[in-house]
Parts: sequence; structure tokens; C-alpha cells
Amino acid sequence: MTVEAADRPERPALVILAAGQSTRFGRPKQLERVGPGGGSLLEYAVYDAVRAGFGRFVLVVRESQRDEFETRLAPVRAAGISLSFARQRLADADLVPLPPPGRVRPWGTGFAVLSAATALSRRAPFAVCNADDFYGRIAYEGLAHALAAPPPGIRAFAVTYSLADTLSAFGGVSRGLCEEGPDGTLLRMTEGLDLRLDGGAQRTGGGADAAVVRPDVVGCTPSGAAIRVGADSQACMGLWGFFPDILPLLEERFRDFVAASPGTEDEFYLSETVSYLVVAERTRCGLVPAGKGWKGVTFPGDHEGVAVWLRQLTEAGAYPVDLWTPHAHAKPVRSAQASLFGPPQALPGGVATAPGRINLIGEHIDYNGLPVLPMALDRHVNVDFEAVAHSTVELEGDSDHGSFAFRLERATESAPRGHWSNYVRAAARGLLDHGVELKRGIRGTVTGTVPVAEGLSSSSALVVASALALLYANEEQVEALELAALLARAERYVGLQGGGMDQAASLCGKEGHALRIDFGPLRVTPVPVPEGWRWVVASSLARAEKAGAVRELYNERRAQCAEALERVGRTSWLEVVEAGQAEFETILAGARRSLPLTLSRRFRHVATEGRRVIEAERALRDGEMASFGRLMNESHASLRDDFGVSTQALDEIVGVAREAGAAGARLTGAGFGGCAVALCRADEAKGVIEALIDRFYAPRGGVDRRALFVADPSGGATVTSEGGATCSD
Ligand code: GLA
Repeated sequence: MTVEAADRPERPALVILAAGQSTRFGRPKQLERVGPGGGSLLEYAVYDAVRAGFGRFVLVVRESQRDEFETRLAPVRAAGISLSFARQRLADADLVPLPPPGRVRPWGTGFAVLSAATALSRRAPFAVCNADDFYGRIAYEGLAHALAAPPPGIRAFAVTYSLADTLSAFGGVSRGLCEEGPDGTLLRMTEGLDLRLDGGAQRTGGGADAAVVRPDVVGCTPSGAAIRVGADSQACMGLWGFFPDILPLLEERFRDFVAASPGTEDEFYLSETVSYLVVAERTRCGLVPAGKGWKGVTFPGDHEGVAVWLRQLTEAGAYPVDLWTPHAHAKPVRSAQASLFGPPQALPGGVATAPGRINLIGEHIDYNGLPVLPMALDRHVNVDFEAVAHSTVELEGDSDHGSFAFRLERATESAPRGHWSNYVRAAARGLLDHGVELKRGIRGTVTGTVPVAEGLSSSSALVVASALALLYANEEQVEALELAALLARAERYVGLQGGGMDQAASLCGKEGHALRIDFGPLRVTPVPVPEGWRWVVASSLARAEKAGAVRELYNERRAQCAEALERVGRTSWLEVVEAGQAEFETILAGARRSLPLTLSRRFRHVATEGRRVIEAERALRDGEMASFGRLMNESHASLRDDFGVSTQALDEIVGVAREAGAAGARLTGAGFGGCAVALCRADEAKGVIEALIDRFYAPRGGVDRRALFVADPSGGATVTSEGGATCSD
């Protein structure tokens, strides 16, 4: 479905506050040339924000500075960027008709934002940043994403950095100190002044290898109260995101501020105002962590450090030397790099391709250590990448997904819940935690044919493809099963406490074969699928988002299984499943007697599904596909009645497929929506598909080919170098 232009959300604007007096710096610092090509920090902000999807820029300046800004920023406009100016004055016809006597100091950041209000759209969100801070591209990416999909009730976002990384060696600094509430949003923010580390580092214990403890940060509040906070506290550096409905609230607060006859040095801080509104429950403010990338120029001595930092980033290819020459925007970054830094470096690049999967039988038992029987799909996630000499991962998805960037470090920050970059971050973190050295990052695009949020493991395919791209870029190798196991662990960083089936199926798929996957240790045994049989995959048209509602339901099931096993006094599901028939019956009867109803049902599902997988593998090997189909039907009933993961739509699809001649049908994957799979004789597949179209899809407005297709068991993930050679095996 295409979105009409009129419905498309407007791109956010960035308001850059450049009217400060630079009291400590000694000269106007907003246009200070810090980059290797003479760019000011505010130009880096524009450059990063454009790439993150911001569409308009409003620069808040003092009247006296306007000409200077106009001249210096002419190349930005010449590069086609929409840049306008808003004047910040001491008197404002509406808000403060006459400045109070003796007032020279600008009114502060909150007023500066109000000064930009007339230049802002009433429909689009906007961000606010300080002209003399470097926030880094990741910060703008994170903010753009947060503004595009705000959780309910959140009308503001604060980008945060670790406080210790924001202090200056040259004197005390002001920071917005954030306290996070239990729901992860801002509880309150305190403006901290004159913040600095409290003396030198102390050591715990004695001896040469005693741990170094970071001292606290000390300072004071604007009213003079002492502040002492941990060095790891979150600091807001003045990068904010807002929806336009914040403006009337800001205005109301400013009027109150003026009415209270402030002293000539008192400022109307944005941070204090947002904090007030949050504490008064008039708005909620999300937090967008942006790692360590912040750099600022508060004192003249800071200048050199920022200049070195920008030179390093530029040398590493993160920025062109001259930000505004046309070639700086050339799309394949490789050619921009070549023209700016001499001949292209011979760094590896290629396409990493990883398939999704369907599970034929063995659902919700991989995390219980029991074998499962999936197959890799002939639908893939592709990461088309080139290595870069610095440790940044920068990927672009389709227009629905957008782009992102992050740094490769073990403490890689997560993006907000649900953001697709989390799967790439998980892959990177998994490799780093495993001890793989990732000195090079990757840059490229992600495309795919695995339907997303359909229970076909598009997310694991993305994890696998990203990991292969990173390994290839760094000329590193990890053996396939080891890689599958570490990526299964890594994907849990995203929150779903999944088993190891999806990553192993994606890495180890084999054409024409289902895969028996055993755990503890991980083993994959391909089992040929007999000729003449097809797998029809049909979507229930309800999304099953692993990072969404499914996550809690899934994790709950997993915990219930562990509890049920423990309460019947067993330590391994394998031992239950491998028991002889009589003993197995006794165990089931015991569980039914001793466990509460829900737990006894969960127990029965896991135990019987485990046995069905063993039988199904045998049936597949013997070509007894009618038996295989019967086991699929039993599996579905068990998932529906005992495990509680089916839906009415899935039950309906399964019913229609069977009535139309399928040998068996069941939901596949975690359930709660997503897809069903039906096993059909090759000559019956068409009839099953037609019946599904007529009876399930037509009444719901039709079907596209992503929702209904015949799947062939396919090969596993590969990396193809640019020369065309396959490098995975
Ligand atoms: C998801 C998980 C898998 C598995 C299935 C259910 O796909 O990622 O590990 O548990 O659900 O069988």
C-alpha cells in the first residue's frame, strides 16, 4: 500500500540555539572553525541531522549576529538545505514587551525555543540543540526515530549522555541532570551548575591492581544548593525532541517566570521547564541514550580536543573534509571517500544473505532444550555492505525502516524498543562479547524478502546477515554452529528470551532438506524432504512482533515451562521426552495431578511436542507424509489448547487448509499471529491456496503474495564477495 503524499508525516525540524553570549569562551564561539575543512559545530549538527531525516533548520541568533551567520552559512543553503533564521530579542512584542531594567542577559534556552516558534510547522515534531555542541550522528538518528514513533503520551524526548563523558578538564560546566523513572521516562531533571569531578580518582582496596573508582561529580543548582551525583548519571546536553503542543506549555511557563520578577541574571531554562511539566504530569518525556559521542566547547582549552576528534572522524571517513561541496552528498559513500581521501582502500565488501525459516514441527520447545524440525526458506534478508576503517555500523533500510548508525563497542547502546537496528546491534554485541575483534565497521543497505513480523524469523535473518557482514568485513571467522549459538544468545539482548532454532536454521539451511536441530550442544542434521510434497505458508494477517506484545507472552510461556518442570521434580525435558511409553504416561498423569491447570497444560504441550518431533523426523525419513501431517495437526491442537499461542485466524487457516486437502497444518513460529504452514501433495497445493484465498483472504479484502506462498526448503546464509565468490562454506 502506498501512502499519499498529503498523509506522509512532515519531516522534523531542528532548532539550533546560537544566541548565547559565550561568556566563558571569550569570543563568539558558534561559528568557531573546528572541523578540518573549517566547519563549525553547528554545521556538523546540520550535516548529521540531514542524514538522520531532519528536513528544516531554524537558527536562533541575536540580531547583531545575523549577517555573520548568513555569510558563513551560505554554503549550507547552496547545498539545498532549508535554513531560516529566528531572532532572539530581550523584548518580544507579545511575551515581554519591555525588557526589565538592567537586563542584558538573554532570557535563556526556553525563551530561545519560543523565539523560533513562528518558523516551525504546527504539524511536524522538532528538535532543539545548542550550536556549540557536537552531539554525533547517532544522537540525531535516535531522536528522529523516537519522534517518528513516540510511545503513547510522550510529547518530549531528551537525548542523554553519560555525565562523566561530558565534563571539561578546563573548568566547571552546566548540565541537565536526568533522573529516570521506573518506566524508563524522565522523572525529573535538575540543572547542575559548575559541575566537575570531585578531586582525583580514588582506589578501592590496596595493591597495584586495585580497581579505580570514578569520583562523584559535584556542583550546585541554580539556587545554590550543593549537588553530588555519580559520574555515570545521565546528562542532557541540550538536544531535545518535541511535538508542537509543547509550545503553549512553554509559553505559559515563561509568562509565569517573567511575572515572578526574575533577577537580571536568572534564565528561563528549557531543562527546568520540561522537568517542571513532567513533575506536574502535564507531559511525559522519553530518554534517548546516545552513548559517548558528545563533545562541546565551553572553554578555549576544549577547542583543541574537539578539533582532534573531528579530524579523526573525518580521516576515518565519517565526514567529508568540506561538508557542503556537492560530492559530500554523493550516495555511494565509497566514491565520496575515494575522491576525498585518494584511491579507494582495498577493504572487503559484499552481500551477506540469510534466509528466514518455517518450523515444520517442534514449537516452543527449543528453549526447553528439545529438538525441533524447521527448514530454511527461499526468502532472505540481504545486507549489501562495504567495510569501513572506523568502527561504525551505518545501514540504510527501505523507506519504512529508515537508516541508523552506531559504534561497535561492547556496551553498544540499544535503540528504543522495536527499532530494527537492535537486531544489528545484537549481532555486533554478540560477536564482541564472544571476543571477536571488530576493528572495522560496515556501511551499506539492507533489503529483504522475508515478510516482517509474520513468525518467519526475519529478525534472526537480519541478525545472521549482519553478523556475517561484520565478520567478513573484519576478515574474521566463527564456525557456523558456534556462531548460531552465540547469535541466539545475542538476540536475547533485544528482549525475547528465544531458543536457538531460528539462527541455526538460517545459518545451516540445506536445499531440499528439513533440519533436525538438537540443543546442548547445538547440532544440525539435515533430513531430506520427499519429492512430491509442498509446504504452503499462509499469513493470519496479524503481525507477531517479537519486540512488541509477543515478547511478554512468549517470555511468560518460557518461565511457565521452567516452573512446571521444576515443580514436577525434573531437571531435564529430554529425560521426560525420552522416557518409555509407560513411564511417560506416569509422568504426564503426575504433572496433571500436582500442577495448577495452566502449568499442567504447558507441561503436556512441551512433553508431547517433544515426542512428536522424534516421530515426525522418522516419518519424514520414511516418506510417511500422511503421518507427518497427522503430527502437525496434533501439534496445532496442543499449541492451541495447552500452550495458548494460537489465534482464531490461525485456527481458521489451519481448518480451511485441511478441508481443502492438506495432509496437515499448524501454526508456525511463536504464534500470537503470524503464519500457518500446511503440508500438501504437490498436485494439491494449488487447491489449498485457492481455498485459502476464497474462504480466508477474500472476505478480509484479498491477499498479496507475501502473505501466501509455497516455500521450498533452501540453503543457509552466505556471504558473496563483490567479485561473486561465495565465502560462507
Ligand atoms: C521464536 C523463537 C524460537 C522458538 C519459536 C517457537 O521464533 O525465536 O527460538 O522458540 O519462537 O518455537
